[in-house]
Amino acid sequence: MKATPHIKPMNGVEIAETVLLPGDPLRAKFIAETYLEDVQQFNGVRNMFGYTGTYKGQKVSVMGSGMGIPSIGIYSYELIHTFGCKKLIRVGSCGAMQEDIDLYDVIIAQGASTDSDYVKQYNLPGHYAPIASYNLLEGAVSKAREKGVNYHVGNILSSDIFYNADETANERWQRMGILGVEMESAALYMNATYAGVEALGVFTVSDHLIHNKATTPEERERAFTDMIEIALSLI
Ligand code: HPA
Repeated sequence: MKATPHIKPMNGVEIAETVLLPGDPLRAKFIAETYLEDVQQFNGVRNMFGYTGTYKGQKVSVMGSGMGIPSIGIYSYELIHTFGCKKLIRVGSCGAMQEDIDLYDVIIAQGASTDSDYVKQYNLPGHYAPIASYNLLEGAVSKAREKGVNYHVGNILSSDIFYNADETANERWQRMGILGVEMESAALYMNATYAGVEALGVFTVSDHLIHNKATTPEERERAFTDMIEIALSLI
C-alpha cells in the first residue's frame, strides 16, 4: 500500500477522492463520527487523524491539515500526488474582517490572498491570485442558498501570522475587501491548481476582528453543521 512520510494508511483503508480538511485532527474525528457512516481510520502519524467513510452512500475522507500553510501544504501535496485525491475541501474557522459579516456566518473562499511566500516556488514573473475551483465554489454557493444560511463569497486572507507585530495590517486587508482571515487556504489552492485538481475553503466565523457579539452553543453547533453539510454536498 502507498505511504508518505506523513500519511501511512492503516489496515488497508483507502483514501477517497474527496477529502474534507479541518485544521484540527480531533475535529476530523468528530466530523467522521458525527456525519459519516462505515468509518475507518486511515492515518495516525503525528496524531494527524484521517478517516474514510460514506456520506449518503458516497465515499469520502476527512483528515486534519494542521495549522498554517506549511502543514496544509505537506498534507494536501501528499493526498494529491500519492493518494490521487481530486477534491480537497478545507472546512475551518476564520476571523471576520467586514462589518456586514456576523459570528457564525458561512464564508466561501472564492480567492485566498496571502502574506506567505509559498507562491515563490513556482517562479512566476508576477503576482498570482490563488482561487477556488469554480465547480466546487458554485456547488457550495447553491447548497448554502438552498439551506438558507447567511453566507458570503469572496476573497479571504491566508496569513502566516496569528500574532502580528504590525497592528495595522488588518485594516489594509479590510480595505481590499478581505472577508476573513485564516491560515491555510492559499497553499491548498496553489497545490490543487498546480496539480490540476479541485479545492475550496468553507468557513464559519469564529471571531470578529471589528466587533464581537455573544453567541450560544446552539448557534455554533448549527453553523458548524451548515458548513459540514455544504462541504459534504460537494462529493
Ligand atoms: N486569525 C487567523 N486564523 C484564524 C482566526 C484569526 O483571527 N480566527 C480563526 N482562524
